[in-house]
Amino acid sequence: MSKTIKETIITDYTAIALYAAQQGANAQRDTICKPIYDPIDADYKQKAGYIDEVNLGLGCGFPFDHATIKEGDVVVDLGCGAGIDTFITATRVGESGKVIGIDLTEKLLQYAAYFAKKKGIGNVAFQQADMERIPLKENCVDVVLSNGVFSLTSDLDKVLSEIYRILKPGGTLSFSDMTCKGSFTKPVLNNMIYFTGCLNGISTQESYLQALQRAGFQSIELVEERIIPIPADIIETSPDPDEYKELQDGTRCFIVSTITCKK
Ligand SMILES: C[S@@+](CC[C@H](N)C(=O)[O-])C[C@H]1O[C@@H](n2cnc3c(N)ncnc32)[C@H](O)[C@@H]1O
Repeated sequence: MSKTIKETIITDYTAIALYAAQQGANAQRDTICKPIYDPIDADYKQKAGYIDEVNLGLGCGFPFDHATIKEGDVVVDLGCGAGIDTFITATRVGESGKVIGIDLTEKLLQYAAYFAKKKGIGNVAFQQADMERIPLKENCVDVVLSNGVFSLTSDLDKVLSEIYRILKPGGTLSFSDMTCKGSFTKPVLNNMIYFTGCLNGISTQESYLQALQRAGFQSIELVEERIIPIPADIIETSPDPDEYKELQDGTRCFIVSTITCKK
């Protein structure tokens, strides 16, 4: 029987956690999401609360910079991985606030919790859960952040309805993820999925915006776009002359999008 996407995620991200624990975060950053992560490396390292040991090179944007996060806020970092954004956000909510990192992969959470204890950071908590069934009450969270995670679900509507449920009225969702503009032939799409490490596929910006509307979110804004250059050898795999031309002139492209919205 073939593995489900969630089983694949747990296997792959457990391997990432173990590799980082053995070889160090720096070695891990050289692996899976490098083409997406590398261009933001220098900026990440300037953020207050940045911890190099938990930076496994898995993020694709800075969703925490696009949400108004106040002292005392309760923030959820959905698909927190080893907690890089959780720790950065912890400096913004202060001692009276709290950041809850939620992830499917237990080993990444253990890695994050180890560094929380080692660095004496008390305003974070890590919880193992599926983002399709978030174990929190309704209307209890000020901000939900997510970085490079939504593209890993096969039920985005369920994830967004869960986020909507836990957010307080007026609360903010801010997320970054790989997206695309236009349609692609199988060879180009599959090669880009492999190249970017987006296991479950890459959806259009439009499909994210529509899903947010369906979930009931308001003030939906595309706040940042970063184009991921398509390697020439992937463009060469295109069997369609129109696609080939539009990949070269950028009409069809792959973009890290950061989107914000409110409940
Ligand atoms: C590309 S990594 C991003 C990690 C982190 N946000 C960062 O920026 O470093 C994707 C993360 O999503 C988690 N994930 C995937 N599917 C999930 C699900 N259904 N529920 C919770 N977490 C999930 C994975 O375990 C992994 O840690």
